[in-house]
Amino acid sequence: MTLINRRVQTLDEFTIQQMRNFPNATGELSGLLRDIGLAAKRVNVEVNKAGLVDILGDAGAVNVQGEEVKKLDVYANDQFMGVLRHGISCAGIGSEELDDVVIFDDEISNNSKYVCLFDPLDGSANIDVNVSIGTIFSVFRRVSPVGQPATKDDFLQAGVKQVAAGYVIYGSSTILVYATRRGVNGFTLDPSIGEFTLSHPDIKCPPAGKIYSVNHGNFFQYEEAVKDYITVCQKKDKTSGGPYTQRYIGSMVSDVHRNLIKGGIFMYPAIKDRPEGKLRLMYECNPCAFILEVAGGKATDGEQRILDKVPTHIHERTPFFTGSKLMMEELESYLNK
Ligand code: AHG
Ligand code: MN
Ligand code: MN
Repeated sequence: MTLINRRVQTLDEFTIQQMRNFPNATGELSGLLRDIGLAAKRVNVEVNKAGLVDILGDAGAVNVQGEEVKKLDVYANDQFMGVLRHGISCAGIGSEELDDVVIFDDEISNNSKYVCLFDPLDGSANIDVNVSIGTIFSVFRRVSPVGQPATKDDFLQAGVKQVAAGYVIYGSSTILVYATRRGVNGFTLDPSIGEFTLSHPDIKCPPAGKIYSVNHGNFFQYEEAVKDYITVCQKKDKTSGGPYTQRYIGSMVSDVHRNLIKGGIFMYPAIKDRPEGKLRLMYECNPCAFILEVAGGKATDGEQRILDKVPTHIHERTPFFTGSKLMMEELESYLNK
């Protein structure tokens, strides 16, 4: 008989233990994280089968259970929306895949403290080629009174007001990383027991690193200050903290995760015909900025701290720079010139 290794702590055990530090905690945040973990496990199963899509049926076809096969990002969206709707902690959601926020408006949801925003699948262009993709989420405490349906204002808050944020990466292993103001922790999915278990306690982003991540294909469309900084990255040698190496997966969540662990900088600057950049403030940048800041790093749009930006609409885009503190400060010295 194999006994479960009691030295490993599951996601549930960890969040419940954290909650005990707060005598007034209601357990709603632990419940929300448990729901997100559950949806992530379902999405993980589907992502792992993605290469079989030609055998099992393309999006739009009907699978063997007689259900319509959905695109994976729509499937992921439905899973996260479904568990949060039926859980006890979430009054409504916003998602990259939905035109507008969804207010759940039932008795339990109206009494929930939180709203949640997510990018159900980040890096979805990488699905077909077996490259790591992920889900990113952001949690706000409502500003509208509990007991009533949530409102749009509950979502349109600056990132600094996030209560928690995190991501799941479906990669060589599946990891769920989440941050509260108290710290950042990572939980790897142990497929033998189907549990996320604490594998990366109290993650800190190294203050300096040697990795820079940017789409070089857009180089000539970046503003001069960004080009100058990228050129500096390329010229680094031993005497100036280098050499640096360039890594760009094309799934922001995976690039940011690697840089969080190893130290590095990720950039998605404005480009000539896209002055607002590509990435979404609410689903991608805010949660990553929150995690990086709690871990000791920084995040800006080039002019302003990401977490101070007050959104005007939920699908807003922004230029995005995040990473190790000292690398970010060197970048900022060019942007401020
Ligand atoms: P999504 O799959 O949610 O649409 O996001 C893709 C994003 C991000 O993950 C990635 O860093 C970026 O798009 C890559 O864009 P480029 O190909 O323009 O570099
Ligand atoms: Mn995305
Ligand atoms: Mn997406």
